Amino acid sequence: MSISHTRLDRFIGEHCQISRRDVRLILAQKRLLVDGEVVDDIALIINKFSHIQLDGVTLQKHQAHYIMLHKPVGVVCATVDKQHKTVIDLLDHPSKDELHIVGRLDLNTSGLVLLTNDSRWSERLMSPEHKVAKKYLVKLEQPITKEQSQRYIEAFAKGMYFAFEDITTLPAKLMTIDEYSVEVKLFEGKYHQIKRMFGRFQNPVIGLHRESVGSLVLDENLAIGESRSLTADEVEDIFIE
Ligand code: URA
Repeated sequence: MSISHTRLDRFIGEHCQISRRDVRLILAQKRLLVDGEVVDDIALIINKFSHIQLDGVTLQKHQAHYIMLHKPVGVVCATVDKQHKTVIDLLDHPSKDELHIVGRLDLNTSGLVLLTNDSRWSERLMSPEHKVAKKYLVKLEQPITKEQSQRYIEAFAKGMYFAFEDITTLPAKLMTIDEYSVEVKLFEGKYHQIKRMFGRFQNPVIGLHRESVGSLVLDENLAIGESRSLTADEVEDIFIE
């Protein structure tokens, strides 16, 4: 059995098919460890990442996984697809079927894609309240002059209204690199957001690459299509700007 959040006594009762009274007895006898600590609190809330042992036998060992992938253009951010190779197909990970994608990229966008089985972590990363920046390198079809770039910067910072969803985009940061390239920092992820925002200036995006999410930068040692696990520090520090 694996759970997202539940009370310890409920988990033990269901897992071992015993009554709450017997669960209480086990706890009183200090036979139960959660994450290596003896527990006696029946109301303790555990999650699917809690390591639970009874009399030295592991009842639940569910590890969290965090992966960064260098997504190629032409691979779809989905778990299954009839037409295209998926990001999951690219992974060589024993638990890859448990993972979900944290913030999808379009088929023709490349760069940093994160995958995990820890939904609390991914919700925190994607929620606009936490203001985690997603940084993109954008190649444009038309060159932009200094004056035009000022207008782009202002429009991105102000936010754009999308009638279809009836939303105004959150303030975004745009920085010019050269006349055909800009860097954009978004704090949310609306459908085709960057392409639609440049569409307002009739300047199509011809290349889009995600460079970083929060403080986590795509590892330059990862070739296109390669992936690796995040370190414990990367998992924590990603939220620090
Ligand atoms: N904005 C887009 O238009 N596409 C992406 O893949 C990401 C952001």
